[in-house]
Amino acid sequence: MAAVLDSVRAFFAPSTFTLDLENAGDVVARENLLDRVMGANRRKKSSEKLRRGRVPAEGLALVARDRAGHVIGTVRLWNIEAGVDRETRPVDALLLGPLAVDCAHEGKGVGSALMRAAILEAKKRGHGAILLVGDAPYYERFGFFAEKTRHLVMPGPLQRNRFLALELKDGWLDGAAGMIVASGRKLGQPPVAMAA
Ligand SMILES: CC(C)(COP(=O)(O)OP(=O)(O)OC[C@H]1O[C@@H](n2cnc3c(N)ncnc32)[C@H](O)[C@@H]1OP(=O)(O)O)[C@@H](O)C(=O)NCCC(=O)NCCS
Repeated sequence: MAAVLDSVRAFFAPSTFTLDLENAGDVVARENLLDRVMGANRRKKSSEKLRRGRVPAEGLALVARDRAGHVIGTVRLWNIEAGVDRETRPVDALLLGPLAVDCAHEGKGVGSALMRAAILEAKKRGHGAILLVGDAPYYERFGFFAEKTRHLVMPGPLQRNRFLALELKDGWLDGAAGMIVASGRKLGQPPVAMAA
């Protein structure tokens, strides 16, 4: 992870912020940031159903900090099954979100830095694809398009032109069809290595 954060930092240098893995001490600041930026309705989104009661994918909860160390941006990715393939095997993937940047720091490249670091780290960890629900004009610059999610559905209301995907491995979502379901570790469940 350190190498990924360093390479993205270098891309945006000189910079007034740093990227970091989220830790337990960031949770209150992250939730306050999300309430401020996205409003109380954020908990009613279809994506939220896939996140509720789950732990983010390993190594894929990132924050941006200002020079004083305060959280000014957040992004997390979640393990999901993106429907099934043509042989009806579940298609493992990631769901990205929420991505949010403190209003006082918008337009300084914080969101882009978080996106690029998250994508690089997901690729490094061997994931095949990332899905998200968001504004296409923003996410297209990172390679996310609606074409690959045509045959997939979210567990709730959805505007199809906002349901986007990026393949980290070519053809990963070919034939993927059906319902998106959460597949990440449940809150309170120990990591696999510890559970054994
Ligand atoms: C969207 C968001 C994460 C962008 O973060 P940021 O740090 O300001 O973004 P960056 O500085 O990396 O990029 C700024 C660029 O993105 C563009 N942009 C920002 N939001 C956009 C949107 N919703 N649609 C299209 N373009 C957008 C800006 O116009 C700017 O364009 P430019 O580079 O051509 O000047 C941030 O504005 C935010 O938290 N918004 C509220 C929550 C939200 O909408 N989250 C995403 C869910 S769709």
